[in-house]
Amino acid sequence: MGRNNSVVVGLQFGDEGKGKIVDYLSGSFDVVAKYNGGSNAGHTVVTDDRTFKFHLVSSGSLSAKHVVLGNGMAIDPAILTEEIRSIKEYNHDVQIHVSRDAHVVTPMHKLLDVEEENVRGSLKIGTTAQGIGPAYEDKYARTGIRMEELGSVTDMTEKLKVILAMKGKLLSGTPYAEKKGLDSMVSGLHELGNGLKPFLCNTARKLHEFDNDGLELLFEGSHGTLLDIDHGMYPYVTSSNTIAGAISSGAGFSFRRIKNVIGVVKAYMSKVGSGIFPTEILGSEADRLRTEGNEYGTTTGRPRRVGWLDLKLLNYAIRLNDVDYLALTRVDTLGIFDTIRVVTGYGNPDEEFSPSDKNLEFQEFQGWGKLDNDKLADITRHGFNALPENLARYIDFIEKNVGRKINIVSVGSKRNLTINRSSVTGN
Ligand code: IMO
Ligand code: MG
Repeated sequence: MGRNNSVVVGLQFGDEGKGKIVDYLSGSFDVVAKYNGGSNAGHTVVTDDRTFKFHLVSSGSLSAKHVVLGNGMAIDPAILTEEIRSIKEYNHDVQIHVSRDAHVVTPMHKLLDVEEENVRGSLKIGTTAQGIGPAYEDKYARTGIRMEELGSVTDMTEKLKVILAMKGKLLSGTPYAEKKGLDSMVSGLHELGNGLKPFLCNTARKLHEFDNDGLELLFEGSHGTLLDIDHGMYPYVTSSNTIAGAISSGAGFSFRRIKNVIGVVKAYMSKVGSGIFPTEILGSEADRLRTEGNEYGTTTGRPRRVGWLDLKLLNYAIRLNDVDYLALTRVDTLGIFDTIRVVTGYGNPDEEFSPSDKNLEFQEFQGWGKLDNDKLADITRHGFNALPENLARYIDFIEKNVGRKINIVSVGSKRNLTINRSSVTGN
């Protein structure tokens, strides 16, 4: 069994910096795997000389021997084809394993995503319009197309006809309601399927074999805990389970074989789309944070809503994922504020999270200023001991409030601007 099998999950509303942390850790793992979501996810990885944007594959794909896309994912074959090409350019010997049971996102699903949002009106979620919701709807309606079926024009056409019959109203007047348009989409998908065929396999079995062979496995969760379909802030959530335990269903690999659950938390918070956000900051302070942190969606380019760190929600996410330790990101961005807030409660201790209550209790901290190149060099050389005092205080406060150690701190977007407590202490 891989002795250090681990999972990296986001503990907020997504965009916590999971990609950066997975890329940083992936050097110690042989296999990187994803178990949920699709191209609604977006990760930016900055190597020394290049910036990569991934949606479907794990951010650890640049250095891993094996890249796995699990059955729990919703895969857009065109995006997957492009991402495989781009990783192979950098990581020549990588082997890619795509679950034949993962669900396919077609151009028709993308169109449906937009149409469904229009129908929702004031209940609009603010989705990424990547077709993820509609593809999972078909999965659970048991009419979804699985990756393996890209190989059969007949199977695909039959399923699509059922989907059309179910969702005909939304699709009437679109090219997919006409035979010509449907056939042309099917042949496009079929062609992509032929290109992807060599990568398809039973990934659940593969993962077991890798584990039995003693390879180390690193799983990467998509999105964030507060976007989980069951445990997030429904209905402003995504359509898959995002928590660590979803590895069992989304990859067919028991979560009991995972040694470390690593929770990624951004030093402040951000959210794309509608829904409750108790610690949201508005106005010019928010604009400044958004600009400094480049808080614009990787997938949609939308400006992200931003807010202070919410320890109430963080504790909730830690419990759901049974997090072992934390990775804290974006401290470089937050430090520029003179006064920094951390929300510790909403005025009612009995309430786990009481989103409508704006009676925020908070602790204030002084900023630690901009981390210039000299300071960054000092931090990367000397690790935690070289962190500015105000930042060390901030970290200490979070650790005490959530009962978990922050073992990794990211001080900039580049790969090398990351420090790790264990490498400092030599454990
Ligand atoms: P990563 O992996 C931020 C949000 C969308 C929307 C809601 C539902 O980059 O952290 P969907 O298209 O999934 O049906 O949209 O979920 N959302 C994300 N926000 N980062 C993500 O992923 C997200 N994935 C989904 O903005 O509010
Ligand atoms: Mg994102």
